[in-house]
Amino acid sequence: MTAISVKNLVKEFRVPVREKGEGRWSAVMSTFFRKWESVQVLKSISFDVEEGEFVGYVGPNGAGKSTTIKILTGILSPSSGEVRVLGFNPQRDRYKYSYNIGVVFGQRTLLDFDIPVINSFKLYRDIYELSSREFEERLDYFSKILKIDEFMHIPVRKLSLGQRMRAEIVTSFLHRPKVVFLDEPTIGLDAVAKEEVRGFLRRINRDEKVTIILTTHDMDDIEQTCERILMIDAGKIIFDGPLSRMKKEFMLHKRIEFAYDRIVNQRLFDSLLGKAKVETSGQNRLAFMVDTRQQDIPRFVDELLSSAEITDLSVHEPRLESIIREIYLKQHAK
Ligand SMILES: Nc1ncnc2c1ncn2[C@@H]1O[C@H](COP(=O)(O)OP(=O)(O)OP(=O)(O)O)[C@@H](O)[C@H]1O
Ligand SMILES: [Mg+2]
Repeated sequence: MTAISVKNLVKEFRVPVREKGEGRWSAVMSTFFRKWESVQVLKSISFDVEEGEFVGYVGPNGAGKSTTIKILTGILSPSSGEVRVLGFNPQRDRYKYSYNIGVVFGQRTLLDFDIPVINSFKLYRDIYELSSREFEERLDYFSKILKIDEFMHIPVRKLSLGQRMRAEIVTSFLHRPKVVFLDEPTIGLDAVAKEEVRGFLRRINRDEKVTIILTTHDMDDIEQTCERILMIDAGKIIFDGPLSRMKKEFMLHKRIEFAYDRIVNQRLFDSLLGKAKVETSGQNRLAFMVDTRQQDIPRFVDELLSSAEITDLSVHEPRLESIIREIYLKQHAK
C-alpha cells in the first residue's frame, strides 16, 4: 500500500525584490513600495512511499527538505501539485490527519517548557484519547529503548538536548501513528545520543511498520537506518533509490592503504601503482585511490600482496558525504 504520494509538487514563496539604491530615501521608498517576486523552492517533485518504508531525505542547505516536510504535514499549502498521505489531503483534512501522523522538528519543540516531561506526555495522551492502560504500555516500551525514566519528572527547559530530543520522539510516536516525519532529529546530539535515536527508529520501524521520512545531514544516520534515499537539490529530486544502488552507481573509488617491508616483485608493484592514483606516500607506506570500474578490488589486493611483503593493509569506502557531494557536482556541471 502506498502511504505517501506526491505528484508534481510545486512550492513558491513570495519574497521582496532586493533593490539596489542609495541613501535613506530609497530605503524608505522600498519599504512602502516594495516589489515582490516569486521564487520556486520546490520545482515539481514527485515520489511515492510505500507503507513501512524508511526513507532518508537528504540534500544541501536550502534544497527544500523542510519545505517538503511542512507541506506533507499540512503546515504549508502547495502552490500546485498533489499530496496524499494515508489518503488524506494534509492541509484540508488537517485535524483528522494529525491523529495519524507524528512529527519532530529537531530545531523546534512541541513540548511545554515549564512542566515536567511526564505532564507533557499526559497532555498528548488526552489529545490522542489514549486509555490509561495503552498509555502505560506505551511509556513502558519507550523507557526500555530510550531510557526516558531518568528525566520524566524534570521540566523540559532543564533537560539536556539529548534528553529533550528523546522526549520529543516519544511524543511523536505516542499514539502509534502510521507515518512519522522527522526533520533533523539528531541535530546537535552527541555520538551516544545519536546511536540511541537511530536504534529506536530502526526498532519502531520494524516493530510497528511505521513509515518514516527522515531528513538529516548526518550520513551515519542514513547509513544505519534507511533503505531508500531521496536526494533533493535546488528543489528537484536528483536521486531516488536504495542506498545500495547509490553506492554502486556513485562509489567510483576505494582507498587502499598499506605498509610494506620489502618489494619482492618490482615490476608487478610498479604496474599496480600505475593503475592507481597515489594520495600519500611515506617511508614504506602508501595510500592510493583505485577506480572500482576499472579494477577488480579483491584481485588488485591479491596482486599487491604478492608483489611486496605487506605488513599492514586496509581498504576504505569513501564516506557517504563525499559520494553525495560528487553527485551534486555532476548535477551542477550539466
Ligand atoms: N517562508 C518562506 N519564505 C520565503 N522563502 C522561504 C520560506 N521558507 C523557506 N524558504 C526558502 O526556501 C528554500 C528551501 O528551504 P528549506 O528550509 O526547505 O531548506 P532545507 O532543505 O530544509 O535546508 P536545511 O538543510 O538548511 O534545513 C530556502 O532557500 C529558503 O530560504
Ligand atoms: Mg531544513
